Amino acid sequence: MGDNILARTTDLAKVICEKYADKGKTAVDATCGNGHDTVWLAERFGSVYAFDVQKSAAEATSRLAENRGFNNVTVICDSHENMGRYVKEKVRLVMFNLGYLPGGDKNIVTESHATLKAVDGALSLLEKDGMICIIMYPGHWQGAGEKEALLQMASKLDKSKYHCVCTDMINQPAGAPEILFITLKT
Ligand SMILES: C[S@@+](CC[C@H](N)C(=O)[O-])C[C@H]1O[C@@H](n2cnc3c(N)ncnc32)[C@H](O)[C@@H]1O
Repeated sequence: MGDNILARTTDLAKVICEKYADKGKTAVDATCGNGHDTVWLAERFGSVYAFDVQKSAAEATSRLAENRGFNNVTVICDSHENMGRYVKEKVRLVMFNLGYLPGGDKNIVTESHATLKAVDGALSLLEKDGMICIIMYPGHWQGAGEKEALLQMASKLDKSKYHCVCTDMINQPAGAPEILFITLKT
């Protein structure tokens, strides 16, 4: 497990995501950034679609996947809100790691309106017993509003179809990362 809070949160998310791994199924990395989450998914799923709005991020992800020898990754340089245009099969897991690219331009961040649309698209693609995992960073300039919008959306999802769970780091300062899990019942 990573020692800093960001690494620790991503590691915790992946412990849960691991339960959904299936080499016969498809996963989506909705925010591929430097490609670390994409290759993690590529090791565990038959096919992975990876999205990012930044060309440099899409290129970094393609390079990392290629260097690691994964030929099951499709990298798409487009907003995740357009996911449904590219992904035509049902998916087992969709991972969002929100915020800005570490080491990149902090002004290019995920934004509530696009994130909400993307989650809506992901919900339509989700197979039964599939999961959407959203790592949220309420500590940055756009992050608190984005988290609130996501929690509001999730709290209104049909309780007969979905289970929504959100983590809360109760001994950490306000703005600590949180994870929202949405599972579709069988
Ligand atoms: C925290 S980083 C992702 C880290 C990445 N998963 C990794 O393993 O390196 C967030 C990424 O979301 C991307 N992003 C922002 N808005 C987006 C959008 N509308 N669609 C897809 N990606 C977006 C940013 O460009 C940034 O690379």
